[in-house]
Amino acid sequence: MRYPEELIEEVRSKNNIVDVISGYVRLQKKGSSYFGLCPFHNEKSPSFSVSGQKQMFYCFGCGASGNVYTFLMKYENATFQEAIKTLADRAGVKLPELEYTPEMKKAASEKALLLEINKEAAKYFYYSLRQEKGKIGYDYFKSRELTDNTMKSWGLGFASKSSNELVKYLRSKGYTDEMIIKAGLASRDEKFGTHDKFWNRVMFPIQDINHRVIGFGGRVMGDGEPKYLNSPETPVFDKSRNLFGLNFARSSKKNYIILCEGYMDVISMHQAGFTEAVASLGTAFTSGQSSILKRFTDTVILSYDSDGAGTKAALRAIEILKEAGMTSKVLDLKPYKDPDEFIKNMGQDAFQERIDNARNSFYFEIDILARDYNQNDPEEKTKFHKAIAKKLCAFADDIERNNYLEAISREYQIPAEGLRKMVMSVINQTGLAEPLRPRAKSGIQEKKTAEDGNLMAQRILITWISEEPEIYSRIREYISEKDFTEELYGKIAKCVIDGINDSSFEPASLLSQFEEEEEQSAVARLFNTKITGLDGIPIEMDSKQDRERVLKDIVLKVKENSYEYYSRNLGSDVNALNEVIQGKKILEKLRKTNIELDR
Ligand code: GTP
Ligand code: MN
Repeated sequence: MRYPEELIEEVRSKNNIVDVISGYVRLQKKGSSYFGLCPFHNEKSPSFSVSGQKQMFYCFGCGASGNVYTFLMKYENATFQEAIKTLADRAGVKLPELEYTPEMKKAASEKALLLEINKEAAKYFYYSLRQEKGKIGYDYFKSRELTDNTMKSWGLGFASKSSNELVKYLRSKGYTDEMIIKAGLASRDEKFGTHDKFWNRVMFPIQDINHRVIGFGGRVMGDGEPKYLNSPETPVFDKSRNLFGLNFARSSKKNYIILCEGYMDVISMHQAGFTEAVASLGTAFTSGQSSILKRFTDTVILSYDSDGAGTKAALRAIEILKEAGMTSKVLDLKPYKDPDEFIKNMGQDAFQERIDNARNSFYFEIDILARDYNQNDPEEKTKFHKAIAKKLCAFADDIERNNYLEAISREYQIPAEGLRKMVMSVINQTGLAEPLRPRAKSGIQEKKTAEDGNLMAQRILITWISEEPEIYSRIREYISEKDFTEELYGKIAKCVIDGINDSSFEPASLLSQFEEEEEQSAVARLFNTKITGLDGIPIEMDSKQDRERVLKDIVLKVKENSYEYYSRNLGSDVNALNEVIQGKKILEKLRKTNIELDR
């Protein structure tokens, strides 16, 4: 289901990345690149660079990087298919219909059919709500203070009391019972045959991120069990990978998303102007949902019920968000149960205030922990403090840990020194702080090891060659792709060197060959290493002698590492013997020779 490489490449090369990104970000020329404020993280001074020569962007602040496709996918939250369509249109390239295998066609057409059925059902429910028989549903929504406009934009509807209306309607549209059941809108039993799943309920269509109806939630009006009836999972309705309201929340301008439990909560927040709200789909929040949210934000504000079940669900959601590298906060809506009730009683300004004061989830976790210990009992109190110390160890960064430690000790009136000692003793007992979780913006300096130094030298060399391909002619006799001992680096180096040899080298086109986002950013990083000496000091780009000296150091480092690498692998690598023999000769020569550059 992919477009041919040449076409992807053609579309890419016809869209100059500087022009495309200029449509979204204000860029200023600085040296050979353009700089602007990074659209992928908050910053005050520009660290987002776009290189016309490399046809790539790279943010020195947050590491976001890629080619023109990656940019659109990230910026517009688009899929590759959507991005290539936009860019093909922009460049006037006509895209062919994609070739599908028969199985793909069958699956695709079944999905398309299920989406059609869901859409028809939504239309039917919507229509029913506005009929005489739907008045009771309409009145119910009115009693919950929804405006006509809100009902319209959420496509709210009504499943009427009389039996089998929807099934009859869908049959009349030509859909088979089998497909209606598969869409989750009906079930079949011996007594009644195929019959409607939803009746006498107000209906909430559940839409995917592209506004397609994939399922429904139906609520009884008043009391009754079950309060909400939801569509079952179907080939188009994956509850662990969709969120109610995300189709609207995705274009909210806020830099956080509010996650709650109820459909009514989401709708009522949006109606009050909080269009950044979403809800999970009657099931617990999943890691699949967290990775979807991560495409849009790195901060999630949780608004779960304050009862036992809600608290437990919130704690679990905090864990999941942490694992995804996101920050979470917790909204306190006391004395109200949920956002819907809060907004109705207190209004939107008060709600905004609660959002502004949302509690960092770490404090929330400590607050919950505190409930388990009787603070008047010295022994329990000590246990509580130990439990806090243990939690503090999750912060591997000293400064961050210390900040939390001080804040907590102030709030719970625990002497900071004592707490600090406890933390140290936990760290000493367990050997280490808990393993570092990936965190978006940690300023932690990684420990420099010899291995890092070797990889760094290889990265600098690749960036340098990609920025100044002409230097390769001066080091060609010393360096080949085999000297890049990290697998991915070797792969890239080969592409770069081959490209230079036949003058087709284009870093941005290389990127399209890597599908995984992680690989792509590793590759982008390779092309955007700061060119420094091995001591980490940026070189004076205008001094020829400096450049020559640094280049030689780096080439030497790369070569020495490769020599050692192949010496270690003499038994297991067929290239090794040759590399060792040649490598020794080259190293001897390189140590005696200066590399000469033109400028
Ligand atoms: P309202 O009473 O209409 O305000 O409901 P709510 O939106 O406040 O929902 P509540 O907190 O009761 O439940 C939160 C979410 O859990 C709902 O939106 C449903 O997705 C789901 N849910 C609630 N009750 C049921 C139920 O009886 N069965 C199922 N399957 N899901 C439910
Ligand atoms: Mn409610």
